[in-house]
Amino acid sequence: MPASTVPGTAAAEDAAEVVIVGAGPAGLVLGNLLLGAGVRCTVLERQSRAHVEQRARAGFLAANTVRVLTENGLADGLLKDGRQHDTCAFRTDRGEFHLDYGSLGRGEAHTVYPQQHLVRDLVAEFLARGGDLRFETPVVGITGITGDHPAVTAQSADGTLHRLSARFVAGGDGRHGTARTAVPAGAVRRYRRDHGVTWLALLAAAPQSMGPVAYAVHEDGFAGHMARTPDITRYYLQVPRGESPDARPDARIWADLAHRMRADRHGPLHEGPIVERRTVEMTSDVLDPIQYGRLFLVGDAAGLISPAAAKGANLAVMEAEILARGLTAALRGGDEQPLARYSADCLPRIWRAQEFSHWMINLLHGPAGSDDDAVFLRALQQARLESLQTSRRHQDHFAENYVGI
Ligand code: APR
Repeated sequence: MPASTVPGTAAAEDAAEVVIVGAGPAGLVLGNLLLGAGVRCTVLERQSRAHVEQRARAGFLAANTVRVLTENGLADGLLKDGRQHDTCAFRTDRGEFHLDYGSLGRGEAHTVYPQQHLVRDLVAEFLARGGDLRFETPVVGITGITGDHPAVTAQSADGTLHRLSARFVAGGDGRHGTARTAVPAGAVRRYRRDHGVTWLALLAAAPQSMGPVAYAVHEDGFAGHMARTPDITRYYLQVPRGESPDARPDARIWADLAHRMRADRHGPLHEGPIVERRTVEMTSDVLDPIQYGRLFLVGDAAGLISPAAAKGANLAVMEAEILARGLTAALRGGDEQPLARYSADCLPRIWRAQEFSHWMINLLHGPAGSDDDAVFLRALQQARLESLQTSRRHQDHFAENYVGI
Protein backbone atom coordinates (compact mmCIF):
# COMPACT_ATOMS: atom_id res chain seq x y z
CA MET A 1 0.00 0.00 0.00
CA PRO A 2 1.47 3.37 -0.92
CA ALA A 3 2.13 5.71 1.96
CA SER A 4 0.88 9.25 1.87
CA THR A 5 3.68 11.79 1.67
CA VAL A 6 1.86 14.95 2.68
CA PRO A 7 1.98 15.42 6.43
CA GLY A 8 -1.28 15.83 8.18
CA THR A 9 -3.50 16.19 5.13
CA ALA A 10 -3.34 13.08 2.96
CA ALA A 11 -4.84 9.70 3.85
CA ALA A 12 -2.72 7.52 6.11
CA GLU A 13 -1.21 4.19 5.12
CA ASP A 14 -3.13 1.39 6.81
CA ALA A 15 0.13 -0.16 7.92
CA ALA A 16 -0.79 -2.70 10.52
CA GLU A 17 -3.02 -3.54 13.43
CA VAL A 18 -0.37 -2.31 15.85
CA VAL A 19 2.35 0.24 15.17
CA ILE A 20 5.27 -0.04 17.58
CA VAL A 21 7.61 2.90 18.04
CA GLY A 22 11.17 1.88 18.88
CA ALA A 23 13.23 -1.27 18.28
CA GLY A 24 14.78 -1.72 21.71
CA PRO A 25 14.11 -4.81 23.83
CA ALA A 26 10.61 -3.56 24.70
CA GLY A 27 9.44 -2.92 21.13
CA LEU A 28 11.11 -5.99 19.66
CA VAL A 29 9.82 -8.47 22.23
CA LEU A 30 6.32 -7.02 21.86
CA GLY A 31 6.57 -7.18 18.06
CA ASN A 32 7.71 -10.79 18.06
CA LEU A 33 5.00 -11.86 20.49
CA LEU A 34 2.35 -10.14 18.37
CA LEU A 35 3.62 -11.76 15.15
CA GLY A 36 3.62 -15.10 16.97
CA ALA A 37 -0.07 -14.54 17.78
CA GLY A 38 -0.84 -13.63 14.18
CA VAL A 39 -1.21 -9.87 14.77
CA ARG A 40 0.14 -7.67 11.97
CA CYS A 41 2.54 -5.08 13.35
CA THR A 42 5.01 -2.52 12.07
CA VAL A 43 8.05 -1.41 14.08
CA LEU A 44 9.50 2.05 13.38
CA GLU A 45 13.03 2.73 14.62
CA ARG A 46 14.92 6.00 14.48
CA GLN A 47 18.40 4.46 14.38
CA SER A 48 20.06 2.15 11.85
CA ARG A 49 20.05 -1.62 12.25
CA ALA A 50 23.82 -1.61 12.90
CA HIS A 51 23.37 0.99 15.63
CA VAL A 52 20.75 -0.91 17.63
CA GLU A 53 22.60 -4.20 17.17
CA GLN A 54 25.81 -2.77 18.60
CA ARG A 55 24.44 -0.64 21.44
CA ALA A 56 25.83 -2.16 24.65
CA ARG A 57 23.51 -1.76 27.61
CA ALA A 58 22.38 -4.29 30.20
CA GLY A 59 23.07 -8.01 30.18
CA PHE A 60 21.53 -9.69 33.23
CA LEU A 61 18.36 -11.52 32.29
CA ALA A 62 16.01 -12.60 35.06
CA ALA A 63 14.39 -16.04 35.12
CA ASN A 64 11.02 -14.59 34.08
CA THR A 65 12.63 -12.91 31.08
CA VAL A 66 14.25 -16.15 29.97
CA ARG A 67 10.88 -17.92 30.39
CA VAL A 68 9.06 -15.36 28.19
CA LEU A 69 11.75 -15.55 25.52
CA THR A 70 11.93 -19.35 25.62
CA GLU A 71 8.16 -19.89 25.47
CA ASN A 72 7.99 -17.63 22.44
CA GLY A 73 10.86 -19.12 20.45
CA LEU A 74 13.18 -16.16 21.05
CA ALA A 75 15.83 -17.76 23.22
CA ASP A 76 18.04 -19.82 20.87
CA GLY A 77 20.97 -17.39 21.14
CA LEU A 78 20.82 -16.86 24.88
CA LEU A 79 20.35 -20.56 25.64
CA LYS A 80 23.40 -21.31 23.50
CA ASP A 81 25.74 -18.49 24.52
CA GLY A 82 24.27 -17.07 27.73
CA ARG A 83 26.03 -17.89 30.97
CA GLN A 84 24.33 -18.73 34.24
CA HIS A 85 25.17 -16.37 37.07
CA ASP A 86 24.09 -17.03 40.64
CA THR A 87 26.53 -15.35 43.05
CA CYS A 88 27.27 -11.78 44.01
CA ALA A 89 29.99 -10.46 46.27
CA PHE A 90 30.00 -7.43 48.52
CA ARG A 91 33.28 -5.80 49.51
CA THR A 92 33.52 -3.35 52.36
CA ASP A 93 36.27 -2.20 54.68
CA ARG A 94 35.31 -5.14 56.90
CA GLY A 95 36.05 -7.74 54.24
CA GLU A 96 34.09 -9.59 51.57
CA PHE A 97 31.01 -11.78 51.68
CA HIS A 98 29.31 -13.76 48.93
CA LEU A 99 25.61 -14.41 48.45
CA ASP A 100 24.84 -17.53 46.43
CA TYR A 101 21.49 -16.13 45.42
CA GLY A 102 20.85 -19.03 43.02
CA SER A 103 20.30 -21.24 46.06
CA LEU A 104 18.46 -18.61 48.14
CA GLY A 105 14.91 -17.28 47.83
CA ARG A 106 13.20 -19.01 44.93
CA GLY A 107 16.48 -20.49 43.74
CA GLU A 108 16.61 -18.47 40.53
CA ALA A 109 19.75 -17.43 38.67
CA HIS A 110 20.45 -14.77 36.04
CA THR A 111 21.45 -15.52 32.49
CA VAL A 112 24.22 -13.19 31.36
CA TYR A 113 23.68 -12.31 27.70
CA PRO A 114 24.65 -8.88 26.37
CA GLN A 115 21.62 -6.83 25.44
CA GLN A 116 22.93 -6.02 21.96
CA HIS A 117 23.10 -9.75 21.20
CA LEU A 118 19.51 -10.15 22.37
CA VAL A 119 18.47 -7.21 20.18
CA ARG A 120 20.28 -8.78 17.21
CA ASP A 121 18.40 -12.07 17.78
CA LEU A 122 15.06 -10.29 18.15
CA VAL A 123 15.56 -8.29 14.94
CA ALA A 124 16.49 -11.44 12.99
CA GLU A 125 13.49 -13.35 14.33
CA PHE A 126 11.07 -10.49 13.68
CA LEU A 127 12.21 -10.33 10.05
CA ALA A 128 12.18 -14.14 9.73
CA ARG A 129 8.54 -14.09 10.89
CA GLY A 130 7.76 -11.68 8.06
CA GLY A 131 7.54 -8.59 10.25
CA ASP A 132 7.64 -5.03 8.88
CA LEU A 133 10.61 -3.32 10.57
CA ARG A 134 11.74 0.07 9.29
CA PHE A 135 15.07 1.44 10.47
CA GLU A 136 16.15 5.07 10.18
CA THR A 137 12.49 6.04 10.37
CA PRO A 138 11.94 8.37 13.35
CA VAL A 139 8.41 8.91 14.52
CA VAL A 140 7.75 12.64 14.85
CA GLY A 141 4.15 12.61 16.04
CA ILE A 142 1.33 10.40 17.29
CA THR A 143 -2.26 11.56 16.83
CA GLY A 144 -5.82 10.36 17.27
CA ILE A 145 -5.08 8.20 20.30
CA THR A 146 -8.42 8.86 21.96
CA GLY A 147 -10.29 7.81 18.81
CA ASP A 148 -10.55 4.52 16.93
CA HIS A 149 -7.86 5.34 14.37
CA PRO A 150 -4.63 6.45 15.97
CA ALA A 151 -1.83 7.30 13.56
CA VAL A 152 1.86 7.95 13.72
CA THR A 153 3.79 10.32 11.50
CA ALA A 154 7.26 9.06 10.61
CA GLN A 155 10.09 10.49 8.59
CA SER A 156 11.89 8.45 5.93
CA ALA A 157 15.60 8.72 5.21
CA ASP A 158 14.88 11.17 2.34
CA GLY A 159 12.99 13.47 4.71
CA THR A 160 9.52 12.54 3.48
CA LEU A 161 6.79 12.35 6.11
CA HIS A 162 4.43 9.36 6.12
CA ARG A 163 1.33 8.78 8.18
CA LEU A 164 0.64 5.22 9.30
CA SER A 165 -2.66 4.34 10.93
CA ALA A 166 -3.34 1.34 13.12
CA ARG A 167 -5.84 0.03 15.65
CA PHE A 168 -3.34 0.54 18.49
CA VAL A 169 0.02 2.23 19.00
CA ALA A 170 2.71 0.95 21.38
CA GLY A 171 5.36 3.42 22.53
CA GLY A 172 8.61 1.52 23.10
CA ASP A 173 10.79 4.50 22.22
CA GLY A 174 12.41 5.13 25.58
CA ARG A 175 12.33 7.97 28.00
CA HIS A 176 12.99 10.74 25.47
CA GLY A 177 10.81 9.28 22.73
CA THR A 178 7.72 10.68 21.09
CA ALA A 179 5.19 8.40 22.78
CA ARG A 180 5.51 10.07 26.18
CA THR A 181 5.01 13.49 24.70
CA ALA A 182 1.82 12.36 22.92
CA VAL A 183 0.08 11.95 26.27
CA PRO A 184 -1.47 15.27 27.32
CA ALA A 185 -0.17 16.85 30.52
CA GLY A 186 -2.53 16.02 33.35
CA ALA A 187 -3.67 12.69 31.89
CA VAL A 188 -0.83 10.80 33.53
CA ARG A 189 0.92 11.28 36.82
CA ARG A 190 4.70 11.15 36.74
CA TYR A 191 6.49 10.08 39.90
CA ARG A 192 10.18 10.79 39.77
CA ARG A 193 13.31 10.75 41.85
CA ASP A 194 16.89 11.80 41.31
CA HIS A 195 18.97 9.58 43.59
CA GLY A 196 21.82 12.08 43.44
CA VAL A 197 24.34 9.45 42.38
CA THR A 198 26.29 9.27 39.11
CA TRP A 199 28.07 6.22 37.73
CA LEU A 200 30.79 6.15 35.11
CA ALA A 201 29.72 3.06 33.15
CA LEU A 202 32.69 1.35 31.52
CA LEU A 203 33.24 -1.54 29.16
CA ALA A 204 36.75 -2.98 29.33
CA ALA A 205 38.23 -5.28 26.69
CA ALA A 206 39.38 -7.71 29.37
CA PRO A 207 38.14 -10.96 30.84
CA GLN A 208 36.21 -10.75 34.08
CA SER A 209 38.37 -10.32 37.18
CA MET A 210 36.34 -12.67 39.36
CA GLY A 211 33.43 -15.08 39.02
CA PRO A 212 30.66 -13.14 40.73
CA VAL A 213 29.21 -9.70 40.25
CA ALA A 214 31.06 -7.60 42.81
CA TYR A 215 29.79 -4.52 44.59
CA ALA A 216 32.42 -2.50 46.44
CA VAL A 217 31.23 -0.07 49.07
CA HIS A 218 34.01 2.43 49.68
CA GLU A 219 34.36 5.83 51.32
CA ASP A 220 35.64 7.21 47.98
CA GLY A 221 32.47 5.98 46.27
CA PHE A 222 30.97 2.81 44.84
CA ALA A 223 32.71 0.51 42.34
CA GLY A 224 31.14 -2.47 40.58
CA HIS A 225 32.23 -5.40 38.43
CA MET A 226 29.96 -7.44 36.15
CA ALA A 227 30.73 -10.13 33.60
CA ARG A 228 29.53 -9.64 30.02
CA THR A 229 31.36 -11.90 27.57
CA PRO A 230 34.67 -13.81 27.92
CA ASP A 231 36.49 -10.76 26.46
CA ILE A 232 34.40 -7.84 27.73
CA THR A 233 33.69 -6.83 31.32
CA ARG A 234 31.46 -4.08 32.64
CA TYR A 235 32.75 -1.87 35.47
CA TYR A 236 31.06 0.99 37.26
CA LEU A 237 32.75 3.80 39.17
CA GLN A 238 30.78 6.37 41.14
CA VAL A 239 31.88 9.87 40.09
CA PRO A 240 30.82 13.38 41.05
CA ARG A 241 27.72 14.63 39.24
CA GLY A 242 28.73 16.58 36.14
CA GLU A 243 32.11 14.90 35.63
CA SER A 244 32.89 14.33 31.95
CA PRO A 245 33.11 10.65 30.91
CA ASP A 246 36.59 11.45 29.54
CA ALA A 247 37.87 13.15 32.69
CA ARG A 248 39.77 10.08 33.95
CA PRO A 249 42.45 8.50 31.76
CA ASP A 250 42.43 4.68 31.59
CA ALA A 251 45.30 4.35 34.09
CA ARG A 252 43.43 6.47 36.65
CA ILE A 253 40.27 4.41 36.13
CA TRP A 254 42.11 1.17 36.78
CA ALA A 255 43.80 2.65 39.84
CA ASP A 256 40.45 3.89 41.22
CA LEU A 257 38.76 0.55 40.51
CA ALA A 258 41.58 -1.42 42.15
CA HIS A 259 41.57 0.87 45.18
CA ARG A 260 37.80 0.74 45.73
CA MET A 261 37.57 -2.99 44.96
CA ARG A 262 40.43 -3.45 47.45
CA ALA A 263 42.47 -5.45 44.96
CA ASP A 264 45.39 -5.54 47.42
CA ARG A 265 43.30 -7.74 49.72
CA HIS A 266 41.13 -9.67 47.25
CA GLY A 267 43.31 -10.05 44.17
CA PRO A 268 44.20 -7.90 41.14
CA LEU A 269 41.81 -6.84 38.38
CA HIS A 270 42.33 -8.03 34.80
CA GLU A 271 43.04 -4.76 33.05
CA GLY A 272 42.50 -3.93 29.39
CA PRO A 273 41.61 -0.98 27.16
CA ILE A 274 38.43 0.89 28.13
CA VAL A 275 36.35 0.53 24.96
CA GLU A 276 33.26 2.44 26.06
CA ARG A 277 32.55 5.00 28.74
CA ARG A 278 29.48 7.05 29.58
CA THR A 279 28.04 8.60 32.70
CA VAL A 280 24.68 7.45 34.03
CA GLU A 281 22.74 9.60 36.46
CA MET A 282 20.72 7.47 38.85
CA THR A 283 17.19 8.65 38.28
CA SER A 284 13.89 6.82 38.34
CA ASP A 285 10.45 7.69 37.16
CA VAL A 286 7.14 5.90 36.93
CA LEU A 287 4.16 6.99 34.87
CA ASP A 288 0.68 6.11 36.12
CA PRO A 289 -1.20 4.99 34.15
CA ILE A 290 1.04 3.73 31.33
CA GLN A 291 -1.72 3.89 28.75
CA TYR A 292 -3.82 6.63 27.29
CA GLY A 293 -6.61 5.92 24.83
CA ARG A 294 -5.15 3.61 22.21
CA LEU A 295 -1.53 4.38 23.08
CA PHE A 296 0.33 1.96 25.39
CA LEU A 297 3.75 2.69 26.83
CA VAL A 298 6.25 -0.11 27.32
CA GLY A 299 9.85 -0.30 28.58
CA ASP A 300 11.71 2.91 29.41
CA ALA A 301 8.87 4.94 27.87
CA ALA A 302 6.63 3.64 30.67
CA GLY A 303 9.16 4.25 33.39
CA LEU A 304 12.82 4.56 34.01
CA ILE A 305 14.61 2.57 36.67
CA SER A 306 18.13 3.20 37.89
CA PRO A 307 20.55 0.45 36.80
CA ALA A 308 21.48 -0.43 40.39
CA ALA A 309 19.62 -3.74 40.30
CA ALA A 310 19.66 -4.45 36.53
CA LYS A 311 15.88 -4.31 36.27
CA GLY A 312 15.29 -2.14 33.18
CA ALA A 313 15.34 -4.73 30.40
CA ASN A 314 13.58 -7.31 32.58
CA LEU A 315 10.71 -4.95 33.38
CA ALA A 316 10.46 -4.16 29.66
CA VAL A 317 10.02 -7.86 28.80
CA MET A 318 7.45 -8.34 31.57
CA GLU A 319 5.42 -5.39 30.26
CA ALA A 320 5.76 -6.52 26.64
CA GLU A 321 4.33 -9.94 27.51
CA ILE A 322 1.32 -8.46 29.33
CA LEU A 323 0.73 -5.92 26.57
CA ALA A 324 0.99 -8.55 23.83
CA ARG A 325 -1.65 -10.64 25.58
CA GLY A 326 -3.95 -7.65 25.94
CA LEU A 327 -3.56 -6.55 22.33
CA THR A 328 -4.10 -10.09 21.06
CA ALA A 329 -7.26 -10.51 23.16
CA ALA A 330 -8.59 -7.21 21.81
CA LEU A 331 -7.72 -7.85 18.18
CA ARG A 332 -8.41 -11.58 17.94
CA GLY A 333 -11.07 -12.15 20.59
CA GLY A 334 -12.75 -8.75 20.66
CA ASP A 335 -12.10 -8.60 24.40
CA GLU A 336 -10.62 -5.25 25.48
CA GLN A 337 -10.70 -6.02 29.21
CA PRO A 338 -7.09 -7.31 29.50
CA LEU A 339 -5.90 -4.21 27.65
CA ALA A 340 -7.89 -1.97 29.98
CA ARG A 341 -6.06 -3.61 32.88
CA TYR A 342 -2.57 -3.22 31.37
CA SER A 343 -1.44 -0.45 33.74
CA ALA A 344 -3.04 -2.05 36.79
CA ASP A 345 -1.35 -5.38 35.97
CA CYS A 346 2.11 -3.85 35.46
CA LEU A 347 2.36 -1.06 38.02
CA PRO A 348 2.57 -3.14 41.21
CA ARG A 349 5.52 -5.05 39.72
CA ILE A 350 7.13 -1.84 38.49
CA TRP A 351 6.88 -0.37 42.00
CA ARG A 352 8.31 -3.53 43.59
CA ALA A 353 11.29 -3.27 41.26
CA GLN A 354 11.63 0.44 42.02
CA GLU A 355 11.54 -0.25 45.74
CA PHE A 356 14.28 -2.87 45.47
CA SER A 357 16.40 -0.70 43.21
CA HIS A 358 16.05 2.21 45.64
CA TRP A 359 17.08 -0.06 48.52
CA MET A 360 20.11 -1.23 46.49
CA ILE A 361 21.15 2.38 45.85
CA ASN A 362 21.09 3.03 49.59
CA LEU A 363 22.98 -0.19 50.24
CA LEU A 364 25.76 0.67 47.80
CA HIS A 365 26.18 4.43 48.28
CA GLY A 366 26.75 6.29 51.49
CA PRO A 367 26.63 10.08 51.53
CA ALA A 368 30.03 11.80 51.72
CA GLY A 369 30.89 14.29 54.41
CA SER A 370 31.15 14.52 58.17
CA ASP A 371 27.91 16.25 59.09
CA ASP A 372 25.51 14.42 61.42
CA ASP A 373 23.20 13.27 58.64
CA ALA A 374 25.96 11.74 56.52
CA VAL A 375 27.56 9.96 59.47
CA PHE A 376 24.19 8.59 60.60
CA LEU A 377 23.24 7.36 57.12
CA ARG A 378 26.61 5.66 56.65
CA ALA A 379 26.08 3.83 59.95
CA LEU A 380 22.66 2.67 58.69
CA GLN A 381 24.34 1.48 55.51
CA GLN A 382 26.73 -0.66 57.58
CA ALA A 383 23.80 -2.11 59.51
CA ARG A 384 22.03 -2.95 56.26
CA LEU A 385 25.13 -4.72 54.92
CA GLU A 386 25.57 -6.61 58.16
CA SER A 387 21.96 -7.75 58.13
CA LEU A 388 22.40 -8.97 54.56
CA GLN A 389 25.59 -10.79 55.49
CA THR A 390 24.20 -12.54 58.55
CA SER A 391 20.43 -13.00 58.25
CA ARG A 392 19.25 -15.95 56.15
CA ARG A 393 15.78 -14.43 55.94
CA HIS A 394 17.18 -11.17 54.67
CA GLN A 395 19.25 -13.09 52.11
CA ASP A 396 16.17 -14.99 50.89
CA HIS A 397 14.28 -11.71 50.52
CA PHE A 398 17.24 -10.20 48.68
CA ALA A 399 17.51 -13.16 46.29
CA GLU A 400 13.79 -13.15 45.54
CA ASN A 401 13.86 -9.47 44.63
CA TYR A 402 17.28 -9.43 42.96
CA VAL A 403 16.28 -11.94 40.28
CA GLY A 404 12.51 -11.69 40.48
CA ILE A 405 10.21 -9.36 38.61
N1 APR B 1 11.08 7.15 16.61
C1 APR B 1 11.51 5.88 16.45
N2 APR B 1 12.34 5.26 17.33
C2 APR B 1 12.72 5.95 18.40
C3 APR B 1 12.31 7.29 18.64
C4 APR B 1 11.45 7.88 17.69
N3 APR B 1 11.02 9.13 17.83
N4 APR B 1 12.85 7.69 19.81
C5 APR B 1 13.58 6.69 20.28
N5 APR B 1 13.52 5.63 19.43
C6 APR B 1 14.17 4.32 19.57
C7 APR B 1 15.58 4.37 20.07
O1 APR B 1 16.50 4.63 19.02
C8 APR B 1 15.74 2.98 20.65
O2 APR B 1 16.22 2.05 19.70
O3 APR B 1 13.47 3.59 20.56
C9 APR B 1 14.34 2.57 21.06
C10 APR B 1 14.19 2.47 22.56
O4 APR B 1 15.00 1.43 23.00
P1 APR B 1 15.65 1.40 24.45
O5 APR B 1 16.22 2.74 24.77
O6 APR B 1 16.53 0.22 24.51
O7 APR B 1 14.37 1.26 25.40
P2 APR B 1 13.58 -0.04 25.81
O8 APR B 1 13.35 -0.97 24.68
O9 APR B 1 12.43 0.45 26.59
O10 APR B 1 14.66 -0.68 26.77
C11 APR B 1 14.35 -1.53 27.78
O11 APR B 1 16.61 -2.13 28.38
O12 APR B 1 18.88 -1.70 28.71
C12 APR B 1 17.63 -1.41 29.03
O13 APR B 1 17.99 0.93 29.42
C13 APR B 1 17.22 0.00 28.73
O14 APR B 1 15.88 -0.10 30.65
C14 APR B 1 15.86 -0.15 29.24
C15 APR B 1 15.44 -1.52 28.79
